[in-house]
Amino acid sequence: MFFAPGRLITAFLGAASCLLISPATAFTNPIRRPGGSDPQISYSGGYYYLLSTSWKNVQISRATTIDGLKTATPKVVYSSTEASRCCNVWAPETHYLNGKWYIYFTAGNEKNLDGQNLHVLKGGATPWDDYTYAGKLTNEWSIDATVVRFNKWGNYLAYSCFHGVQYQSLCMQKLGDDNVSLKGSISVISQPTESWERSGTPVNEGPAALYIQETGKTYIVYSANYCWTPDYCLATLEWDGKTDPASAAAWKKSSGCVFKGGVNGHYGTGHNSFFRSPDGSQTWNVYHATSNSKGACDDSRYTMVQVLGSNSDGSPNFGTPVAFSYNSAEPR
Ligand SMILES: *[C@@H]1O[C@H](CO)[C@@H](O)[C@H](O)[C@H]1NC(C)=O
Repeated sequence: MFFAPGRLITAFLGAASCLLISPATAFTNPIRRPGGSDPQISYSGGYYYLLSTSWKNVQISRATTIDGLKTATPKVVYSSTEASRCCNVWAPETHYLNGKWYIYFTAGNEKNLDGQNLHVLKGGATPWDDYTYAGKLTNEWSIDATVVRFNKWGNYLAYSCFHGVQYQSLCMQKLGDDNVSLKGSISVISQPTESWERSGTPVNEGPAALYIQETGKTYIVYSANYCWTPDYCLATLEWDGKTDPASAAAWKKSSGCVFKGGVNGHYGTGHNSFFRSPDGSQTWNVYHATSNSKGACDDSRYTMVQVLGSNSDGSPNFGTPVAFSYNSAEPR
């Protein structure tokens, strides 16, 4: 009789602790390699959902454990022969708004990267339901959309842009009432003005919202520097909690990178997203990295998942990128 090693270990642990919670109790990184760029994971209804792209489509995979995502079969939920959005499909993210799941993503043409724009798919009551194309969100160059929620101000889309500025920056725009359009003016909330965000070429991109329950603080975590450098890293913008979030003055930038590579063989650790653990007590950081010490912007980047820590003042502590050998407990 053949027993998978994982099952044997689980049976042993189960007997030892008299507590059999889930079939896998630990995982190692990477979670997806290759094809692990710009990763996003959502947890909903007992499943982890990982969004990914072949750069010609949007794919979603699901599993009941993080370890299970490694072998889950991706399902294609978007591809198009439409020339303006067939190709260079990047950074898909699922977001739940008023009972429905949406996927916001970047797409453009086949020839170059000048036509990159934001688009949205509308889904159903679970992230696994079918999606239909719901429209183009922007008419100027824009990538890496994410939803950011504010109690008093409503929902915004944060993305990377060149809106009247020289370098790739972060923009905010109000999400339309239908959640498949944007409304109002485009505001630039962060530009790569600091020396530590200008390696290769000055870049701010890959925004991700981070809400800290204990302090009530809202952050936008973003990626700084050019991806073909080992310096591609995460930095934060902290909202002041009162000023219009579409105003640059509402956001305070970290004094440097808050999470960077050059550790455990990982470089260019960036373009992340966050998810809450099943019991809501943990926040997890999902990011990509490369083993290329010169950095990478291509499909060789892999997906990493590790728990987010906290500093004594309640601010996020990202720690350092964990080794592939590190055995992490599954989210609680
Ligand atoms: C869009 O999302 C907002 C916030 O969740 C919600 O109030 C609104 O009803 C949604 N619109 C539609 C058409 O579902």
